[in-house]
Amino acid sequence: MKRLAIAADHGGYPLKTKLIEVAGGLGWAVLDLGTDSAEHPVDYPDSARDVGLALQEGRAERGIVLCGSGVGACIAANKMKGIRAGVCHDTYSAHQGVEHDDMNVLCIGARIIGSELASEITRAYLGATFQNEERLVRRLNKVLALERGG
Ligand code: RB5
Repeated sequence: MKRLAIAADHGGYPLKTKLIEVAGGLGWAVLDLGTDSAEHPVDYPDSARDVGLALQEGRAERGIVLCGSGVGACIAANKMKGIRAGVCHDTYSAHQGVEHDDMNVLCIGARIIGSELASEITRAYLGATFQNEERLVRRLNKVLALERGG
């Protein structure tokens, strides 16, 4: 079964339950890494780290991190080795980011879009697979070289 790790800070929390339902409905096993309330502040790098670690440790193949804008979570997640995160507030980016760029963490801002669009974006993201074409692999390898420092 495909596994998804999801986490949110207090700003992203309002979307989390809905997206867990969406992913579960698509047959994904969901690892919920919190937070569990919009009331208590949580630092978005901690949410991103929890999801990134789940991928690095092989506990999930894909991740979603939710914060207020999606931006902070994305910046933090991309600092982690092996993580290719993107903020997607449209369905095209959500599937093309996987198909062309092998995006493995989707970041969404719960203060930017509503739950129905976020659900569609999640479906597009989880339904997509990397297209193993030469030009895409070449570009991905260049990204991985950047990650190694050059
Ligand atoms: C929290 O208030 C907010 O700064 C955070 O959720 C996120 O938007 C950061 O990018």
